[in-house]
Amino acid sequence: MLTSIKSVGSHVPSGILTNADLEKMVETSDTWIRERTGIVERRIAAVDESATDLAAEAARDALAIAGLRPEDTDLIVCSTSTPDSMFPSVASRVQDRLGAHGPAFDVQAACTGFLYAISVADRFVSGGEARQAVVIGSETLTKIVNFKDRGTCVVFGDGAGAVVLGPGSGSAGIKSCVLGSDGSGGDLIYVAPGADGPEGRGRPEIRMDGRRVFRFATEILAQATLQALEKANVRLEDVKLIVPHQANARIIEAAAKRLGVGADVMVNDIANYGNTSTASIPLALKDSLAAGRLKRGDHLVLVGFGAGLTWGACVIEWEGAPVRVAA
Ligand code: UT7
Repeated sequence: MLTSIKSVGSHVPSGILTNADLEKMVETSDTWIRERTGIVERRIAAVDESATDLAAEAARDALAIAGLRPEDTDLIVCSTSTPDSMFPSVASRVQDRLGAHGPAFDVQAACTGFLYAISVADRFVSGGEARQAVVIGSETLTKIVNFKDRGTCVVFGDGAGAVVLGPGSGSAGIKSCVLGSDGSGGDLIYVAPGADGPEGRGRPEIRMDGRRVFRFATEILAQATLQALEKANVRLEDVKLIVPHQANARIIEAAAKRLGVGADVMVNDIANYGNTSTASIPLALKDSLAAGRLKRGDHLVLVGFGAGLTWGACVIEWEGAPVRVAA
């Protein structure tokens, strides 16, 4: 029995940070940001709005869309790089809010986290240890961005996406997952204490060598997609949709070119959210569903990359999850 996606939910903060807002903070321009990243605006969490707040709402949304009771959830896996605290985990906090039971834990694989989380939860469901699992990607990245660093602050945004997993019917479900890591690339993107406090104690902030991450990203998106397809025994020409991590529109376009697929297959949803790390894949998947881009029996690929360096891809035969446009 395969593990199937029963529904996709999301929740984003109401606060919006536009390119015009960023023009007032750093030496940048709306034109530069649009042309070099494809981003028009991103969501920004309020000071008292946490990854748990976003995650719980995204989980509730996914459960409501599927018509499932939150209290029947027997596994929660949350991927986040911006938990409310080192512990307890965001997953445990969400479990309490939902009234759910069973194991709950976070995974941390930076922007690849959602794929790591899906892969782990898949094993619980396909092994019969969970029947209603919620997998969440939730981020408040704007809280770890240095708004004086134009190389990072224009890119990242906040949001959460969630899927409900359960036993699939027929041939539908997750057909393969491939995960990878190359720790030697750890210095390309990482979080370190900023300069705004006593030495080594400043507010944590993202540091990134954008150009080198860009090169890695375009190669790995294509490579991981092909590896997952081979493992699932599915041909690229039979894939209806590829939902990549939304890091930069140019990365997505370059990966599409490498694979020889068009914009009808490769989802580019970055304009309104920016790079939301582990939330970007479920957010883009939800928007694709709302746009009617998937139907029962279609094959899709979820593929991502991030700090670590890490990467991952899953091939899924779509079961035909219900869709609700409003979050
Ligand atoms: O999800 C986690 C993984 N992260 C990523 O995937 C990020 C991947 N990298 C990127 O998306 C891109 O590298 C960035 C968007 C971060 C930067 O775009 P780029 O086209 O690679 O720019 P660059 O770093 O090569 O810089 C080109 C020029 C530089 O000026 P000079 O040296 O040519 O005079 C930069 O200083 O653009 C300048 N620049 C900017 N100018 C205006 C860099 N950031 C900005 C900015 N506004 N925000």
